[in-house]
Amino acid sequence: MSETEQQSGGGKNQPLRAPRGTRDVISPEVERWQDVERAAHDTFGRYGFREMRTPIFEDSSVFEKGTIETLQSAQKGMYRFVDLGGHELTLRPEGTPPVIRAYVEHNLSHSKDVARFYYIGPMFRYERPQKGRYRQFHQIGVEVFGSESAALDAEVIDMAMTWLGDLGIESLQLFINSVGDHDDRPAYMEKLIEAQKDLLAEMSEDSRRRHEINPLRVFDSKDPQDQLLIEKFPTILDHLSPQNKAHFDEVCAYLSDWGIDYNIEPRLVRGLDYYRRTVFEVTSSALGAQNSLLGGGRYDGLVEQMGGDNIPGVGFAAGLERIVLALPEGAGATPIDCYIVTVSPKLIPQAMKVMRDLRSHGLCCTADFQGRSVKAQMKAANRSNAPIAVIFGPDELSKGVCTLKMMESGEQQEVSLEILVEDLHRIVHMADPGN
Ligand code: HAM
Repeated sequence: MSETEQQSGGGKNQPLRAPRGTRDVISPEVERWQDVERAAHDTFGRYGFREMRTPIFEDSSVFEKGTIETLQSAQKGMYRFVDLGGHELTLRPEGTPPVIRAYVEHNLSHSKDVARFYYIGPMFRYERPQKGRYRQFHQIGVEVFGSESAALDAEVIDMAMTWLGDLGIESLQLFINSVGDHDDRPAYMEKLIEAQKDLLAEMSEDSRRRHEINPLRVFDSKDPQDQLLIEKFPTILDHLSPQNKAHFDEVCAYLSDWGIDYNIEPRLVRGLDYYRRTVFEVTSSALGAQNSLLGGGRYDGLVEQMGGDNIPGVGFAAGLERIVLALPEGAGATPIDCYIVTVSPKLIPQAMKVMRDLRSHGLCCTADFQGRSVKAQMKAANRSNAPIAVIFGPDELSKGVCTLKMMESGEQQEVSLEILVEDLHRIVHMADPGN
């Protein structure tokens, strides 16, 4: 059987399956996703960020400044294809270059104001799938253009920590570093290359390859032997120019002032090549090997490289799948308030009318409506976890009443349709005062 058949089904008599490295997101997990997205809209909105939606595919050239080499050097690939019109396109592997492309294309820099954007959507990278690492994954990211001020670096970090903290994710750790810029990077790189050359023979094959492509990326090696060698390499933090050191100290001073805990990690370099000065990452021990929830940094120079003015930028992106994995138990449930049961299929039209009314008054309700027996409907009500079944029988409806059955106690009571909304609200709120 071919690899394609094995991965996604489609062979003779093989069940169809989602492609390797992709996932279906089904209730109740999908409600956890919605919670994370809602919290992002709320928090980012309060910080004055506006959402931007860009296409899922872009001209391949959009990713030429920094993304391609980086992904290749990490042995990851991109989903590139030529469409029927002969255009070379790429499914976006990250959100930063598309947002810059849109910012430049729509001349959003003309006012010289600081512009704050966020985005939510699928990204695509061809890499070896494992828990928390997928080929189609989702990012929630932000990009800020227009200022070199350390205040903005600190602001986006503050916003990220507020968002993740409000979601109740435990054991968050923030790591921060500066990777310098054209002032100090070249001299430092020479020192680093020298230091690595001396130890090449002891390095893993993977790190030797990284050394050839981008010596900074050796810092990302997880190989235990490499880790020992990495300790011996000079760090950029010790070789920062005075102004870059001052910028870094200022970011740290803001964080300290706001009581945000952080760890200075001089070996944090981040996977993407476009970073200048501040870089940061947030991890959670609630995750396994893929413990990086969120990463970002400053990328002054990239907007200009992509055809815009010389406008600085800073941002981050978080992996939605990973945030959902790290959420506390019980988050994201959207409870059904009541389940509608009809004694006869003839009563469905009347029951639907009542249901529309209940929904318009903010109650969450559902029903089976296949005309199944009352017993089967009650079982479905049970599976839905609704605390109340609202039962409609012909005699009751003719009297303008229905029966409420408390699913847990089995207790029943007759209620007039006129006060049904009020009664249901009262019972639902009593059951869940936090509602
Ligand atoms: P990144 O570190 O490549 O940065 O990705 C950011 C986050 O996306 C990671 O911390 C992780 O949570 C998630 N992620 C990355 N790859 C995968 C994957 N294969 N499966 C699941 N989750 C994944 C960027 O993409 C930059 N554009 C961030 C940025 C924005 N920097 C400045 N602005």
